[in-house]
Amino acid sequence: MGFLPKLAAAVIGLLLLCSNVRSVPNTSVTTVLCNSGVYSKGDPFATSLAFVLEELETLTPSRKGYNYFNISPYPNAFAYGHAACNQNLTSSDCATCLSAAKTAMFGTCQSRIGARSVLHDCTISTKCLQQ
Ligand SMILES: *[C@@H]1O[C@H](CO)[C@@H](O)[C@H](O)[C@H]1NC(C)=O
Ligand SMILES: *[C@@H]1O[C@H](CO)[C@@H](O)[C@H](O)[C@H]1NC(C)=O
Repeated sequence: MGFLPKLAAAVIGLLLLCSNVRSVPNTSVTTVLCNSGVYSKGDPFATSLAFVLEELETLTPSRKGYNYFNISPYPNAFAYGHAACNQNLTSSDCATCLSAAKTAMFGTCQSRIGARSVLHDCTISTKCLQQ
C-alpha cells in the first residue's frame, strides 16, 4: 500500500470518527431571509417578537424532536415562531445553534416583521400578523 492510499484511508477514518462523535453543532449559515416589512421601536410587534424568540430559544431544546411552534399571547400584534434543530444534536448543542441562528437573524434582519434564519444544524423563523 502506497503513501497516498494510506493517507486517504486515515482521512476517511478520521471523518467517520468525527461524524460519530459530533460534539459541536455546525452553525454555518445556510440562508437568512428577511420580510421587507419593518416595525418601529415601541411597536407592539417588537414585544411579541421578543417574547416568541425568547420562548423558541429556551423551549425548543427541551422539546421532543427539537421542533417547536409558538405564538405570542399579546392580542394586538400576533407573532408566530418556529424553531427546529438537527435531532442528532444534544439539547445544549441545540441551544447553542439556536442562539447563533438568532444572532444571524438580527444581524441581517433588523426590525423586520418576519425573518427566517437557516443554519446547517438548526433553523428559526418568525412572522407577524396584524389584527
Ligand atoms: C443523524 O445521524 C445519523 C447517523 O449518524 C445520520 O444518518 C443522519 O443523516 C443524521 N441526521 C441529520 C439530520 O443530520
Ligand atoms: C457545516 O456545514 C456546511 C454546509 O452547510 C459545510 O460546508 C461545512 O463543512 C460544515 N462544517 C463542519 C465542521 O461540519
